[in-house]
Amino acid sequence: MNVRGNVQGNVNGKSRYHEVHARSLADPEGFWAEAAKEIDWIKPATKIFDPSQGTYGRWFAGGVVNTCYNALDRHVERGRADQVALIHDSPLTGSVAKLTYAELLNEVQALAAIMQDFGVAKGDRVILYMPMVPEAVVAMLACARLGAVHSVVFGGFAAKELATRIDDAQPKLILSASCGIEPGRIVQYKPLLDEAIKLASSKPKACIVLQRPQLTCEMTPSRDYDWASLRRKALNDGKRAACVPVAATDPLYILYTSGTTGVPKGVVRDNGGHLVAVKWSMFNLYGVKPGEVWWCGSDIGWVVGHSYIVYGPLLHGATSVMYEGKPVGTPDAGAFWRVISEHKAVAFFTAPTAFRAIRKEDPEGKFIRQYDLSKFRTLFLAGERADPPTVEWAEQQLKVPVIDHWWQTETGWCIAGNPVGLGMLPVKHGSPTVPMPGYQVDVVDEAAKPVGPNTMGSIVIKLPMPPGCLPTLWNQDERFKEAYLSEFPGYYKTSDAGYKDEDGYVFVMGRTDDIINVAGHRLSTGGMEEILASHPDVAECAVLGVKDAIKGEVPCGFLVLKAGVKRPPTEIEKEIVALVRDKLGPVAAFKLAITVGRLPKTRSGKILRGTIKKIADGESWTMPATIEDPKALDEIGEALKGRV
Ligand code: COA
Ligand code: AMP
Repeated sequence: MNVRGNVQGNVNGKSRYHEVHARSLADPEGFWAEAAKEIDWIKPATKIFDPSQGTYGRWFAGGVVNTCYNALDRHVERGRADQVALIHDSPLTGSVAKLTYAELLNEVQALAAIMQDFGVAKGDRVILYMPMVPEAVVAMLACARLGAVHSVVFGGFAAKELATRIDDAQPKLILSASCGIEPGRIVQYKPLLDEAIKLASSKPKACIVLQRPQLTCEMTPSRDYDWASLRRKALNDGKRAACVPVAATDPLYILYTSGTTGVPKGVVRDNGGHLVAVKWSMFNLYGVKPGEVWWCGSDIGWVVGHSYIVYGPLLHGATSVMYEGKPVGTPDAGAFWRVISEHKAVAFFTAPTAFRAIRKEDPEGKFIRQYDLSKFRTLFLAGERADPPTVEWAEQQLKVPVIDHWWQTETGWCIAGNPVGLGMLPVKHGSPTVPMPGYQVDVVDEAAKPVGPNTMGSIVIKLPMPPGCLPTLWNQDERFKEAYLSEFPGYYKTSDAGYKDEDGYVFVMGRTDDIINVAGHRLSTGGMEEILASHPDVAECAVLGVKDAIKGEVPCGFLVLKAGVKRPPTEIEKEIVALVRDKLGPVAAFKLAITVGRLPKTRSGKILRGTIKKIADGESWTMPATIEDPKALDEIGEALKGRV
């Protein structure tokens, strides 16, 4: 294990981490009550933590607040009106746009007023199916202003996924755009939106559609409304919506994430806990001060985008960069350094996969040397395990601390990280460092008993979870309890496996369920299997993640065709690839379907996924004692030849 102290001399003499973390566990209410002073409350909480509410208790019970007020109005009122709040940088359209706090507030007030005209009120759901444009941020904040619950659906998901979310969230309104832009390809959103609404049984009252000049779309009469016309009229008429007070425990948003079955889980984020935790993290974890420029290179469709493109930096009074582009190819592997230097970002947050893509194109870091990165202090990585070679390369090239940190859609902010603001701890490559305040992270065996240092087990979080973490799943308390709380009583199950070392550093090694991580995107193989199985020629199938040099993992589907199918397997494989793209979306990166005569199974009929994965990954493997027929594994090896 590679233990590095004093990385690039940036570890402050002594870190306050241990004292702060210990206090957060010994006196959680005192700790979070103090952190809550950074938020403007309409009415402070009557109970900082109320164990009698919700599935495991609720934070800031009795508190009344508005998230949008904290993100915008208070900064405008207190001297940040002319500070840039949002920089939209889009190499895909060749544009950079800036909105000050006052301008962003103006836009949000107008859109919120428009939404009110459509009848949107506190508690109503609004789905946003939007590309990475400033209007998406305006829309999220407009919902927050009204106490409406937004649910952002990532643009890389197909119509069926959008339909599932429409049916679960039952939105009054959908906000969308004519298109998204991917390198070399314009993604038409409107046909996907129309198809999703057709598939869904819950129909929205209306859709507000942003026409992008790159590709406009036909509007559906009496359902679709032109965003720009509504905006113009609202601004001309001086329409502005005020902030609606909401309970701290009211939902701010629902964000769907892959579950262990094909049906996504609607992670609920409440207003109060989220405000306090995310605001706390901006300085204490990320080391960013109000007024500084921060860049999170994710997409607003993911939790990282919610917390750190939109809410975190704005709650903190920082300037947030929103990037519509890729790490490579827009136009080259210097894109990230151009953005950091042009906008003078002090810290940047992305996924390790992006660095693997850059390293492949620019191993010597030549592009890095072309830019002035003198303001840049820290790189944060999350979304998947930061593999040590990638971290080492980034450290050597950038000469700033590279900090891996671990979190989940469910938690909304970091579970384990290295707190820059509190004083960095020594970095150990392969570890996201230590639990953040409020998180008691344990590694347990099957009987929920903590195991000793350096012993692998299930990683769990002692209840209650800290503020910011999900209180439940949307309209599914029982599923929440069943999926997260029942297996290890008294704990939240992360579904990640790993260990802690003798210094308490957490090592997150992989999932214990069917989730795979493809380019930092979380996908359920079970969900993909459902799609494969729906093909009329498929008798049986298995999808698993196989190693990929850039994306970490990519899905690989094995198919057994029905007896009597005469068509060439390659034809069916192509159809399967197209089917996953059509039903789940391009984000699945499902490009590999392989026909086999049978799937290797145990005598009790369980598919030997672990062994198949090892064969596909070229790792050594041993013949499972329980195998039904050892020859089936040789057949897998043969079928994989030349395919992975
Ligand atoms: N709308 C429509 N399609 C999208 C999309 C969106 N918002 N985002 C991605 N896609 C498509 C891509 O065009 C690609 O389609 P293709 O199969 O036609 O090429 C497919 O989905 C897979 O996309 P992606 O995973 O982004 O792969 P890529 O090959 O385009 O790029 C990386 C690879 C590594 C550069 C890219 O994955 C990346 O930058 N990842 C960072 C991940 C990240 O920030 N995650 C957030 C968690 S912190
Ligand atoms: P998501 O909910 O999409 O953010 O995905 C969460 C999952 O991604 C976690 O449960 C982990 O499996 C994985 N993950 C995220 N960040 C890290 C990290 N820093 N190290 C290891 N795994 C990570």
